[in-house]
Amino acid sequence: MPKVKWSKDLETENANIDNQHKMLFSLIEKLSNSISEKETGRVIQTVTANLTNYIIEHFADEEDLMIQENYPGYKKHKSIHEDLVIEAAEIVEQYHNKELVMTSPLVIFLMEWINEHIKKEDMDFVKWLKNK
Ligand SMILES: [Fe+2]
Repeated sequence: MPKVKWSKDLETENANIDNQHKMLFSLIEKLSNSISEKETGRVIQTVTANLTNYIIEHFADEEDLMIQENYPGYKKHKSIHEDLVIEAAEIVEQYHNKELVMTSPLVIFLMEWINEHIKKEDMDFVKWLKNK
């Protein structure tokens, strides 16, 4: 299982967004731990549901701020969010259908995806906000 760790280079310097990103990391870590600790399917399902709900909430908050601020990159950013939600839902479904024994692919996918997304698209948005 990869180490789920927040690092300084993920800081956008928008306190609200950074706090939500940290929360995302801690929920991914929780999922990672519950898999490592061989928790029951029911526990893993609950942790996964909490995580996916939080992702959706966080994306909605970011998108609301983009609309409010008239961010020109809003549509593209929103569609990137949507792709993530679809892909994550597919992994969760495979897990529910027992095609996947554990949700570690979800942890790996989210870790890589979120790292990349924060460093690129989220940074671009916050930079744009600052220079507005
Ligand atoms: Fe984002």
